[in-house]
Amino acid sequence: MARILLLGSTGFFGRGVTHKLIDGGHQLRVLVRDPMKAAAFKARGAQLVVGDALSPSVVTQAAQGVEHIISLIAVRRNRPQSYLAVNVDGPRIMAEAAKAAGVRSIVFVSVIGARMDPHYKYLTSRWMGEQELAKTGVAGTILRFSLILAEEGGVLNDFERFAKFGPVVVIPGDGQTKFQPILREDAARCVIEAIAKPELLGKIIELGGPEVVTFESIFDWFLQARGVKKPKVRVPPGLLIPGAAVMEAVLSNPIVTPDEIITSQLPNLAEGIDSVSTRFGWRPTAPSSWAPMHWKNEAVRR
Ligand SMILES: NC(=O)c1ccc[n+]([C@@H]2O[C@H](COP(=O)([O-])OP(=O)(O)OC[C@H]3O[C@@H](n4cnc5c(N)ncnc54)[C@H](OP(=O)(O)O)[C@@H]3O)[C@@H](O)[C@H]2O)c1
Repeated sequence: MARILLLGSTGFFGRGVTHKLIDGGHQLRVLVRDPMKAAAFKARGAQLVVGDALSPSVVTQAAQGVEHIISLIAVRRNRPQSYLAVNVDGPRIMAEAAKAAGVRSIVFVSVIGARMDPHYKYLTSRWMGEQELAKTGVAGTILRFSLILAEEGGVLNDFERFAKFGPVVVIPGDGQTKFQPILREDAARCVIEAIAKPELLGKIIELGGPEVVTFESIFDWFLQARGVKKPKVRVPPGLLIPGAAVMEAVLSNPIVTPDEIITSQLPNLAEGIDSVSTRFGWRPTAPSSWAPMHWKNEAVRR
């Protein structure tokens, strides 16, 4: 069993990875900003270090004595924390800390679509973060995922907000953007198994579930599971962007931002339909059969 420092344990994906690491008997340390969010992990035997992952001294201290670091830290929006501070500088700070503490390897989670293209601010920040990590020369594996699905949180929060907003359900664009969603349970298994796969070091691997489905299909699973009967209206992205820009300017937590609308039109596909079985040797669950059963009620966080 490995000694692991996990960054981002209190987030949507992190909760799943943390419990799976503990289930697997690993010696786990988590660096968290709010210890109350990590009470369940501590109760299950994880060691808590309280601090900010953007502080080099805090991360270096937290990395003492561990063999591996897993990082799930990122921000999807440019405030209150900025893309530059978290998505770009964060991976470099972590990698430098790993080197200083003599950590053997890093698994860094990113997103499919990460690219250098000023039209896509979030995706550019993720690409820059990957580059910063690589530049440090630390031994690391980058896992980019398509959409991750679970009983609670993640895109489900967005769907709940979209479904409650107004008399119709708005689909940005034609709804036909392709995704390869993967269950959090399966994505967490990939992250944990990647630690023990030295053949993946130095690689960027794009992972998704066993089906290619459209955004509208995934949203339909949700609407049907929750019995939402509102009419759906497809709205061209160009018409939604001005409203989103206003919301972004005046609200602290807008329903959607212009960058998210533009990004939502890009295909989000892994390196193949068998990406997980090719890299890890097992087949992930098909979300199309899982979601209708598991999205019926608003779930409570574990
Ligand atoms: N959700 C998806 O569908 C999806 C799909 C593909 C890839 N991913 C990737 O998976 C990773 C995790 O995503 P997520 O959806 O779980 O995001 P999330 O729910 O927003 O979680 C982000 C985590 O980062 C932590 N964090 C942020 N700033 C920090 C700081 N300055 N110091 C310490 N911790 C900090 C947060 O801590 P607090 O709890 O203190 O805020 C939280 O634990 C990201 O790299 C994301 O791009 C997610």
